[in-house]
Amino acid sequence: MCGIISVLSLKTKIANCLFSSLERLEYRGYDSAGIAYIGIDAKLHRVRSIGTIDNLKRAARELSIEGYIGVGHTRWATHGKVTEVNAHPHICKGVAIVHNGIVENYQELKKELLKSGYTFESETDTEVIAKLVASYIDNGIDFQSAFKHAISEISGTFAIVAIYEGAPHLLLGVKKGSPMAIGFSKDNQNFYIASDAVALSTLVENVTYLEEGDFVIAEKRDTLTYKVLDNLWSETSRKSVPNRVSLHDVEKNGYETFMLKEIFEEPKVIRLTFDKFEYNLNTSKHKSISIIACGTSYYAGLLAKYWVEEALKIRVDVEIASEFRYRDPLLSADTACIFISQSGETIDTLSALRLVKSRGYKVIALVNVESSSIAREADFVIKTEAGIEIGVASTKAFVAQILSMLMLCTDRNSLAITEIETSVRTVLNMEKKFIDAARKIMSSNSLFYIGRGPSYPVALEGALKMKELSYIPAEGYPAGEIKHGPIAIVDEDVYTVVIAPLDKYFEKTISNAQEILARNGKILLLTTEGAKNLSYDFRENENVDCIFLPQLSNPVHQPFCLVTAIHLLAYHTSKLMGYDVDKPRNLAKSVTVE
Ligand code: M6R
Repeated sequence: MCGIISVLSLKTKIANCLFSSLERLEYRGYDSAGIAYIGIDAKLHRVRSIGTIDNLKRAARELSIEGYIGVGHTRWATHGKVTEVNAHPHICKGVAIVHNGIVENYQELKKELLKSGYTFESETDTEVIAKLVASYIDNGIDFQSAFKHAISEISGTFAIVAIYEGAPHLLLGVKKGSPMAIGFSKDNQNFYIASDAVALSTLVENVTYLEEGDFVIAEKRDTLTYKVLDNLWSETSRKSVPNRVSLHDVEKNGYETFMLKEIFEEPKVIRLTFDKFEYNLNTSKHKSISIIACGTSYYAGLLAKYWVEEALKIRVDVEIASEFRYRDPLLSADTACIFISQSGETIDTLSALRLVKSRGYKVIALVNVESSSIAREADFVIKTEAGIEIGVASTKAFVAQILSMLMLCTDRNSLAITEIETSVRTVLNMEKKFIDAARKIMSSNSLFYIGRGPSYPVALEGALKMKELSYIPAEGYPAGEIKHGPIAIVDEDVYTVVIAPLDKYFEKTISNAQEILARNGKILLLTTEGAKNLSYDFRENENVDCIFLPQLSNPVHQPFCLVTAIHLLAYHTSKLMGYDVDKPRNLAKSVTVE
C-alpha cells in the first residue's frame, strides 16, 4: 500500500532510477505519485501529479532532474482525496517526506503544530511528519536527531523516508509495521531505500530487509555508507540476501497485462507447487484448524475447509482476519492456526497472527513472499510457489494457495497433477469462449455467482474478481441460499454465473438455476464435459449460455479449472469495458492499513 523509492548517489543521474522504480511500484498504489530531490543547485525540488507515473513524467519533463539524493512515492489514498496537494512527497522548510502507512495520532500532532504557527496545505496525515521534523530543526536540532524525535512522537504503522535540503548527504528511513528494503547498486555508486524488493529488482543484487523499529541512516561522503539502528537506537546489523526479484518477474513478457500473464502462468504454478511441496500437518497434535486471511486468500481458506475436513476429518474454521483480531477468539493448543496471505504484509492478517502469538500459541503462515512480515513472524512457513504477482487482482497466487492446502491434507501420490495441469491449459485455450461470455455479461446491472460445495468458494472468488475489475456489483452465494432473499433482485438485467461441474451437487445447483430462469434472469453455466449429454431442459433456453470445461477424473480436483475459468471471465469483462485490469480503481496490491 503506497510505494517508496529513494536514492543517495555518488552520481547526479537519479531520475531514471526514481521513475523506473516508481513504475514497478505502481501496483502498490496508483492514485497519484511524486518525487522530491535536492538538485545540483542545492535546492529541494518537488513534482507531483495525480494518476499514473506517465502523468508524473509529463509533469516533470521540463525539469532536468539532477542531484545526489531523491525520494519517490506512489500513493494509495488513506487520508485525503486523490489530489495533487495530497500526493507525496510532503515538504516543509526543506524537509521532504514519503510515507507508507498511517499516522494514527496525526490530529493531535497537527493541533500542536498549528498552535506553534505551522500551516497545512493537505488533508493527509503525512504532512504532519514533515512539519514535525522541520519543527525540531527550527529548534536547532540536527536533521538526524530531529527525525528520530519526530518518529518517537508518532503512533501507527509506517515506513518513512526523509531528506533535508540542509543535509543533502543524508538519507533517513524508518520501518514500523510496513516493509522496507535497502541495498547498494552493484558498483556501490547508489544506495537505495524502498518499500519492497520489487522496486529494487533491476537496481541491486543483494537486498536487506529491515526489522520492526529499525532506522536506516545512509551517508554520502567520498563513498556511500549506511548504518541500521534498532528501536533502542543501537547500531545493529541486518543480513543481506540475494534479491530474487528478476526483470523477468516484473515485466509483462509479451502479454498485454500482468494479470493475463499471471493467469497464463497458472499451469506452471501448479507444477511448481507440486514439485516443491514438502510440508506436513501434524494431525496427531491438531484436533482442529483455524484458517485466518483476507480477500482472495480467505476464499482459498474456505475452499480448503471442504478438502481438509473430508480428508482429515478434523474441524476447520475459516475466519476473516479483520474480524478475528477484534473479537476474543477461543483458541487452544490443539488448534493449528494457519494464516494465508499472498503478500505476507496484509496488516489485518498480520495483526491477527500477532494476537494468536501473544496468547502463546504457535502459528503457521502460508505466504507467497518469503521475506514478508507474516513469514518472518510465523513459527512455521509454507511458501507458495506462485512467483511475484503484480496484477492487483490475485490469480495465480490463489491457485498456489489452494493447491498447497490440498497437498497439506492429501497424499501427493493421489493427486492427478498432470491431469489438473492439462485441464487448466485446456481452459486457457478456450479463452475465446470467455470473451464471448464477457461481451454478454458486461451490460448487466448486477451479477450473482452461485455454487454448492467446493464450487461455493469458487463462486465467491469469481464474484470478487468480477467486482474488483469490472465494478459491476457481483455477489457470490451458496446456490441453495439464493432463494432465501437474494433472488428478489433477479430480473432480465441480472446475470448469474452458475458454477456447476458434474459432481454430487450438480442436480441441486441446476434446480437453483431453474429458479433464476423462471424469474427472467440470465445464466452463464460453467459446467464440465460430463454434463454435456445429460438432459436438463433449459440448455436450449435463450437466456442460458453454457461453457463446458474439462471433466477431471477426481471431483476433488475440479475447482482448479473452474478457478482459471472465472479468472478469465473477470479479466475479459474488464478489458471489454475498457478498464485498467492491472490497476483497478480504489485498490492496491498489498493492504498495509486497517
Ligand atoms: O496479500 P494477501 O493475500 O494477504 O491479500 C489479501 C487481499 O487483500 C487480496 O486477496 C485481495 O482481496 C485481492 N485484491 C483479491 O484479488
